Amino acid sequence: MKSAVILISGRGSNMRSIVEARTGLDVRAVLSSRPDAPGLAWAAAQGIPTVALDHRSFAAREAFDARLAEAIEPFAPDLLLLAGFMRILTDGFIRRHEGRMVNIHPSLLPAFPGLHTHRRALAAGAKVHGATVHLVTPELDSGPIVIQGVVPVIPGDDEAALAARVLEVEHRIYPQAVRWFLEDRIEVGEGDVVRVRGAGVSSDTLVSPRDPR
Ligand code: GRF
Repeated sequence: MKSAVILISGRGSNMRSIVEARTGLDVRAVLSSRPDAPGLAWAAAQGIPTVALDHRSFAAREAFDARLAEAIEPFAPDLLLLAGFMRILTDGFIRRHEGRMVNIHPSLLPAFPGLHTHRRALAAGAKVHGATVHLVTPELDSGPIVIQGVVPVIPGDDEAALAARVLEVEHRIYPQAVRWFLEDRIEVGEGDVVRVRGAGVSSDTLVSPRDPR
């Protein structure tokens, strides 16, 4: 069995989708960079250990990350899952956990790294949009891509409508990526390209590659 610590900052719906998917992942703790994150209360109600680290009480990024690493260490997780964790991590922290730290980003990377992805996709006139689960590397939102979920941009969409459509696909692809990690099927090959052992190339336009089960 593999274990994880999930890092959140707010609502925590992606964390919830991972916990509720009952993948067999041992979620050892949920950590939040905001003490008032609603997701933290939900995790505690499930009996999952929670830790709140208020990023505002740390003067420097390095100090916050050092404390974060310290808080994670006793749980000795195989995976660190970033799920709506709204902090840019230092290179030192990322290197320390490289290869086992995963993030979900609400765009089809490499398009729209950073913030306000839905607004930017609408402004660019994108016809499709979506979300990406990727391994975390020091360069922001640009690590090896594990899985992407694609949704159409529908005429008349506003930011909220598009965000809701993307969120639905986020809740499908993150648990799927976790299953692949649990099954040891993720392989990072040449040029940092991820191959999922046993998954075929798919023409599925909603979640690609198609759930291979
Ligand atoms: C999600 O859209 C995630 O992709 C982004 O922030 C949002 C967090 O939502 N990084 P939640 O906290 O998981 O509900």
